[in-house]
Order: sequence, then structure tokens, then C-alpha cells
Amino acid sequence: MKILSIETSCDETAAAIIQWGNNQAAVLANTVSSQVSLHAKWGGVVPDLASREHQKNIVPVIEETLDRASLTPADIDLIAVTEGPGLMPALVIGVTAAKTLALIWDKPLIGIQHLEGHIYANLLKPDTELRFPLLALVVSGGHTELVLMKDHFQYQILGETQDDAAGEAFDKVAKMLGLDYPGGPIVARKADAFRTQNLESGILNLETKTGNPKIKNQESTFNFPRPMLDADNFDFSFSGLKTSVLYFLKKHEADKQDEQFIDQVCHEFQEAVVDVLVGKTKKALALYSPATFVIAGGVSANVRLRMELRNLIDTKFPTTQFLTPEFTYSLDNAAMIGIAAALRYEHMSEPDRTLLMDSYRTLEPDANLPFQNLV
Ligand code: KG4
Ligand code: ZN
Repeated sequence: MKILSIETSCDETAAAIIQWGNNQAAVLANTVSSQVSLHAKWGGVVPDLASREHQKNIVPVIEETLDRASLTPADIDLIAVTEGPGLMPALVIGVTAAKTLALIWDKPLIGIQHLEGHIYANLLKPDTELRFPLLALVVSGGHTELVLMKDHFQYQILGETQDDAAGEAFDKVAKMLGLDYPGGPIVARKADAFRTQNLESGILNLETKTGNPKIKNQESTFNFPRPMLDADNFDFSFSGLKTSVLYFLKKHEADKQDEQFIDQVCHEFQEAVVDVLVGKTKKALALYSPATFVIAGGVSANVRLRMELRNLIDTKFPTTQFLTPEFTYSLDNAAMIGIAAALRYEHMSEPDRTLLMDSYRTLEPDANLPFQNLV
């Protein structure tokens, strides 16, 4: 079957066409129109501006996607759209476009939860199979959660952030350091550069982690906290870490001119976040012994996080299959919504599939939509 999918939950206007059959997915077209430069001026996503941009771009993006796949509306079997969570003024544009197309083309329409899209993005790699139970570390700009799936579309949230999401913390630290928006990838790049350079030169023993590495050429040391790492649950908290970076920078105002210093702050911050994410994941892997472990969401693009998780799986849980999304599908895109829709449709009962013909009337965006178990 061929699915046209639409994603407008935040600042990317995205559409894709997925072909699904015999347990294999092919992405026939994947278009992402980013608004990053527009929001960069404001240091974050402005919901009303995002909405206006989506409104301008949604039709050209869908047309371009059909063109790229050399398909016409008649070739499409199912329309899928992100229903939530996300920014309401942004979601509404994608959902309205999808409902309109479903009505005029007379197609079934399915709403997909954004984070389940991130999890199913792992299936966009050829010859990949999700085996259950599955543990997912969902790390994005708005969410940080450990999710256990006993089967397709059967979700249990083991723990989640009590305040900031991991990606949000990256973005806020970037802002404190005067770096551009979105800061996550920039902080990561600087942190990785610092790490590589110092490992090569042997200035810092970055492997020991416990040593509170010294600030280059100074007596004081970094000592960023690992919030909730030792708590007896699977919840997270990143706002204390963010505040600790803020106070640290206030104390070292003069050093902010030094690029090496900035890079080292990025490094120490990234290490703290990665330690917490990996530490909590380790506990969940030990308790639930999943057949598959996946990472999902924008922060899954973080190379250091991937490296440490790979190391954890290889050394402690070698029988668990570890999946990471391709970098193109780590950040927000519509292909992930299409693949989740294909699988949901496949697992639906015939009467529920028939109901999808009515979604052009009933589907509503929901800014706080939780995971939806399929009954
Ligand atoms: O999933 P996503 O594209 O959008 C949301 O659903 O929120 O995630 C975006 C988040 C942003 O906070 C961004 O800074 C972060 O993912 N991010 C990263 C990296 N690439 C993107 N954070 C750390 N390291 C990265 N390489
Ligand atoms: Zn996302």
C-alpha cells in the first residue's frame, strides 16, 4: 500500500510517501521544509509564526512530494497525519490539510501520535524488524521518556521527565552560551570536537568520567550534576543541570570569550546528559530484558549518546537488538508518520479500518496527545 503522510507538529512542514508491503518499507518521497532560520531570530519556535509558515508551505510541500514520487492522488491508499502532541497552531494546519484531502479524494485518514512516529522511524532501515518486548528511549525537544512495548502499539510509560526534556536542555544551554537555535546539534558538535581533540592530545583523561575534569589552564573543576541518576525510578529531570550550567557560566563570565572554554562546557554538559540517559536505560534493560532497544526523537541524532548506548548493549546486553534511526529520520519528518500509519493500519480490525473513511469529519489535533494503545 502507498501512504501519503503529513507532519506539522513543530517547525518543519513535512510530507512523505511510503510504500509498505511484505514487511518492507520504501520511502518513495520525503520532503521537509524547515523554518529554522525564521525562528532562529527569536531564539526558539514562535507558534503563530510556525502556523503561518505551515499554511504557506503545506500545499507546495504535498504537491512536490507527489511529483517526486511520480504519483497522482489515485495511487494513494491511505492518508496519515500527526495528530499530536505538538504546538496546536502548527498541528491544526497539517490536520486540516489531511482532512481536506481525505474528503476530496475519498480516502481513509489515520491520525498518528508524533512520538510513536519517532519509534517506528527505526523501521525505515531496510531489513529491520521490531521484536518484542521493546524498550524505547524517546528523547526529543519536548519529551524524554522510557517506554516499554509488549507488542505493536501497546505502550507502557516507565518514566518521563519531571521538567525539561533532554533536547530542550541542549537548546537552553546553547542559548546561555550565545549559540544559534536550535542549539542541540551545535552543542553536540562542539562537545565532540573538544572530546576528540583532548583524547588525542591526552590533556584530559575523559574516559574516567569521575575526575571532575579541570578547566583548561585553571584550577577550578567542572562538577555538573547527574540529576535523578540514582533515584529508584525511571523518571528524569534536566532543569537542575541547566541551572547548574547557568550558575557556572555566571562565575566564569570572562572565560566565555574563550572558544576552548565554550567547547568544554558543551562537552561537560553533554557528558552529564548522556550519563543520565544511559544510566536510566541500563536499569530498564536489566529489569525488562527487552528483545529490542530503540532510540527515538531528535536527540537520538546525538553521536555521543549513540556511542555510549552501543557500548552498553555490546558489553552488558549482547542479546538485545539495538536499533537507531537513520540520521535523516531522527529529526522531525513525515516518513516516520507514514511507516507508523502502515503498521497501525495492518494491525487494525476491519471495522476500525472502515471507520477511517469518516476521519475527515472526526479527527481533531491534540497538543497533549498521549500514546494510544491499539485495542
Ligand atoms: O524530535 P525533534 O526533531 O522535535 C521534537 O519533536 O521536539 O527533536 C528536536 C530536538 C531539539 O531540541 C534539538 O536541539 C535536539 O532535538 N537535537 C539534538 C541533536 N540534534 C537535534 N540534541 C543533541 N544532539 C544532537 N545531535
Ligand atoms: Zn519530534
